[in-house]
Amino acid sequence: MVERADHPAHCVSILLFSAHRATAVMDVNDVEPQQHELVTHRGFKLIHGTHDPEDVDQIYNLEIRDSDVFVVTYPKSGTIWMQQILLLFEAKGDVTAVSELNNQCNADLIPWIELKGSRQAFIMAPSPRLRVTHLQYQFMPAALSQRMGKVIYVARNPKDVLVSYFYFHKLANMLETPKDFDDFFEKFMRGEVFGSSWFEHIKTWYSHKDDMNMLFITYEEMIQDLQSAVERISSFLGKELTGDQLANVVRHSTFNNMKKIPQANYEQVSGDLLNHHQGTFMRKGTIGDWKNHFTVAQNERFDEVFHREMEDLALTFIWDIRDIEFSQSHSAAS
Ligand code: PPS
Repeated sequence: MVERADHPAHCVSILLFSAHRATAVMDVNDVEPQQHELVTHRGFKLIHGTHDPEDVDQIYNLEIRDSDVFVVTYPKSGTIWMQQILLLFEAKGDVTAVSELNNQCNADLIPWIELKGSRQAFIMAPSPRLRVTHLQYQFMPAALSQRMGKVIYVARNPKDVLVSYFYFHKLANMLETPKDFDDFFEKFMRGEVFGSSWFEHIKTWYSHKDDMNMLFITYEEMIQDLQSAVERISSFLGKELTGDQLANVVRHSTFNNMKKIPQANYEQVSGDLLNHHQGTFMRKGTIGDWKNHFTVAQNERFDEVFHREMEDLALTFIWDIRDIEFSQSHSAAS
């Protein structure tokens, strides 16, 4: 089983520790930022107080073991989902064994490498060292590009990412509460959020995917066929689970089942960090919620930016749950 992390920050993803809200994007060279304001470090937005830029720079030099696994996501792309699957792999599908080890949340056991203090714990940790990160490629250990360790990149269609991130900003006390959806839409498009631009994130990683041991998988593929996704991840990691064990991994990583698991739904995270009255971490878990939020004009603008930014990447996304349902009913009928 994986080791427990002692750092209290691990549970809070991109979450922070104070009631101060991020109000501005600052540069580290400007006046000293307030705790938890966004700071730009080498072109990437970090959170002052949660991330230490000097510490983040040291990640590049970390020694990597072949057994190390990094789950890489832009925020709101299915990090907790992949944490759940990896934890269940370690426990051979036994959800009770995961809960017994897991006091507060999944990130206790599979922490963010970029959080303050996390790097030192990583160096000392026994194998297998399982970590998640929202960082762009250039910050990550150089050894990954020498085919050391493994990387699982989970991508989600960015319109749904935007909507999920909007609600998360309301839920997370330490992130700036958006004025309204339109205001957040603009910030996301400008990359003025933790994680910076969604487009840059995926481009930095995807353009290096052949240099490393990487499994590239989308949130939508996982929604479409979780069983196949779990089998792909298992074989990528070289796991040897029986059919029953794999079935249990799938069963305990569906949206409905994860929503009932307090550690997967961030229910035990303090109210200082998450305003539980504003909603739940496991919110909708579907494809196409953006259609309930984007105006026609916003959608047209998004499509324009998407096509311009992504023209060199041979990547397609599923934008609507009905596309899956349609293809499933079609293949069942044929
Ligand atoms: S964070 O804060 O960056 O760590 O968030 P992250 O875990 O990456 O993303 C949270 C969104 O993933 C959804 N989710 C799931 N969807 C479907 N099935 C499963 N099992 C699942 N687990 C997590 C979660 O509901 C968030 O998306 P939204 O759209 O807000 O519901």
